[in-house]
Amino acid sequence: PVPERVADLLARMTVAEKVGQMLQLDARGDYEGDILRKHVGSILHTSPYRVGLAHDLVEQTRLRIPLLVGEDCIHGHSFFEGATIFPTQLGMAASWDPALVEQAARVTAVEAAATGVHWTFSPVLCIARDLRWGRVDETFGEDPYLIGELASAMVRGYQGNGLADPTAILATAKHFAGYSETQGGRDASEADISRRKLRSWFLPPFERVAKEGCATFMLGYQSMDGVPITINDWLLNDVLRGEWGYTGTLITDWDNVGRMVWEQKVQPDHAHAAAAAVRAGNDMVMTTPQFFEGAQEAIESGLMVESDLDRAVARILTLKFELGLFENPRRPTLERDAALIGSDAHAAVNLDLTRRSLVLLRNTDAALPLAGGFGALDDGGRATGGSAGAGDGAPRRVAVVGPLADAAQAQLGDWAGSSGQADWLPDGHPREMITTVLDGLKALTPQDWTVSSALGAEIVTLVSPPEGDTLPDGQPRPKIAVPCDPDPELIAEAVARAEGADYVVAVVGDQVELVGEYKSTATLELVGGQVALLDALAATGTPLAVVVMASKPLVLPESALGAAAVIWAANPGMQGGRAVAELLLGLIEPSGRLPISFARHVGQQPVYYNQIRGQHGVRYADLTQEPAFVFGQGLSYTTVEYSDLQLAGETVAPDGTVHATVTLTNTGARPARETVQVYVSDTVTSVSWTDKELKAYRQVDLAPGERLAVELDLPVSDCSVVDAAGRRVVEPGGFELLVGPSSRDADLLRAPFTVTAP
Ligand code: IFM
Repeated sequence: PVPERVADLLARMTVAEKVGQMLQLDARGDYEGDILRKHVGSILHTSPYRVGLAHDLVEQTRLRIPLLVGEDCIHGHSFFEGATIFPTQLGMAASWDPALVEQAARVTAVEAAATGVHWTFSPVLCIARDLRWGRVDETFGEDPYLIGELASAMVRGYQGNGLADPTAILATAKHFAGYSETQGGRDASEADISRRKLRSWFLPPFERVAKEGCATFMLGYQSMDGVPITINDWLLNDVLRGEWGYTGTLITDWDNVGRMVWEQKVQPDHAHAAAAAVRAGNDMVMTTPQFFEGAQEAIESGLMVESDLDRAVARILTLKFELGLFENPRRPTLERDAALIGSDAHAAVNLDLTRRSLVLLRNTDAALPLAGGFGALDDGGRATGGSAGAGDGAPRRVAVVGPLADAAQAQLGDWAGSSGQADWLPDGHPREMITTVLDGLKALTPQDWTVSSALGAEIVTLVSPPEGDTLPDGQPRPKIAVPCDPDPELIAEAVARAEGADYVVAVVGDQVELVGEYKSTATLELVGGQVALLDALAATGTPLAVVVMASKPLVLPESALGAAAVIWAANPGMQGGRAVAELLLGLIEPSGRLPISFARHVGQQPVYYNQIRGQHGVRYADLTQEPAFVFGQGLSYTTVEYSDLQLAGETVAPDGTVHATVTLTNTGARPARETVQVYVSDTVTSVSWTDKELKAYRQVDLAPGERLAVELDLPVSDCSVVDAAGRRVVEPGGFELLVGPSSRDADLLRAPFTVTAP
């Protein structure tokens, strides 16, 4: 039922006013006329100053219906200079820590609300399977359960204590659904995905946040079975509104409605496109200016019935009432709250999450922590001994090399001011807010250590071929040739530093020009001369720690895979360099776990862990199908043994719960934060299915020598498959519970159980 105030307002609106409420316009352009004449309901991409002007204009309209202000606050308030920028979603996911992710989203909401933003287009719930896709960094990785856990946490953080709270911002579950399953990893191409496949893996995270009250959903660009998501009746009405009972607001992605006319060519004109979009249940139309005229035309010609329009407008007005915008339009409060933005307290939340997001992938002969590690900071804030540390006090020389060792912007990644969208809004964040690895090591290494550097930032500079440069067959030469010719001077300089040092830390990765919407990559190799750099560093014999700072799992060369240590840092945000330096020095314990698998070769795509089982014919003749690193993987500076996996009973009813205990022992000398991963394997299924799926996990802290029995409870209803008819069912019979520190078979203890027939 439509709330009384909404019904009252709706009854007083003209068709044009109603249509205007459905429009969300890009406020980088000239919006004055749009607000006054078209009564637009929402704007996106703006600045606090322009938001203020827009609210003033609304005051001059007949009904003074407040504006909704939207923004892409993706890992922090992306485009507000000086806002706190966290690790990317992929980096956050490596923490596996919903509490920290929720706190990060809360910080983002507080900062965004102070700038007058009401609505963020986050989180992304897409499953990242093809690593060539340009938006892998925006996802929580490859596992539906982990995505659901972390996305729910993020929604809770954004929406705070409820929409009436002035620091709450609307969350958006996007991109609904299957957008990531593109062909060849090419962004926004048609996703060839069946309904059963959607129900099996792609929809569950969305269902979860829908049921937990995520206020809005954004629809993907692509079509499914020939029907653009924007008008996909099955997905929007049968599933989302019908089966899940979702009553929130739907927003299209950028010009989805217009695209049906000029790109997908499934609608003859804007009137038809508007009618189809409204009929399918869209509420807010992002950046299709022609919708204003198109929808009115559709009403006049009878293509659209006004009750469909009313339904959409009622939802938008309800949202505005729920946010309390009619009483308080929530203008920017910077005069009062400027100090909150990028505050020390927010930086502390960021640092906590960043520390947890680092994944130690390799550490041979305890190469890390450097010099055996340190346990505390001295009065000057530098690493010193301490109970946990074994630092022997001898001064050491550390060489810091590589193009990302001091590359502040690349460290932040996409959606951070001066990324691909740099031309939109204030570009960049103050350099002093960002700690690079070089900054971090210079600040934290003991006073008498020396830190030298040879950065060679130019090594990854995007190589644009000269105008008119063509390949022998006449095709334009691609922007990046992999591998690029390494610059011998830059490499020689780095090698000289490494040779004169006790350790060399190389920070390599990708750069923002290779990340983002419409920026998929055909290759996954380290670009530029980075491979040559790593090969040359490895040949020096100086112990090499490779820090990979990149938007996606890249293919690492053998010199990196065989290095003394490898750390995956994703794009770790403003505090990234500090957290990496702390990890290198053993001031913190490594605890991140991979939320996504790493390929060995781009041609192996995809390499996600929960593929449909079956060995026959899955191997390449010229390459293993084994990934370089798998989902769930990550080391500590100590060793944790898993033993004694026990189930409370061997048979369980379909409506019962599997109760299990596993014993963990910290057998090393340092503390551990362990992520106990629980997978389920259904022994025989009526349909082809995966061999294991993550169903739960627990994070526990273990002191050196500590032994702990960890209890695990798993509802049998979670042990389901999607059958041939597309129904989610638990099939009675044999199962195995798999518990361990990663998804790798060799890491998992197994316990069989039987689910009885109902
Ligand atoms: O929120 C984004 C979306 O993820 C991709 N297209 C543009 C939108 C608004 O910027």
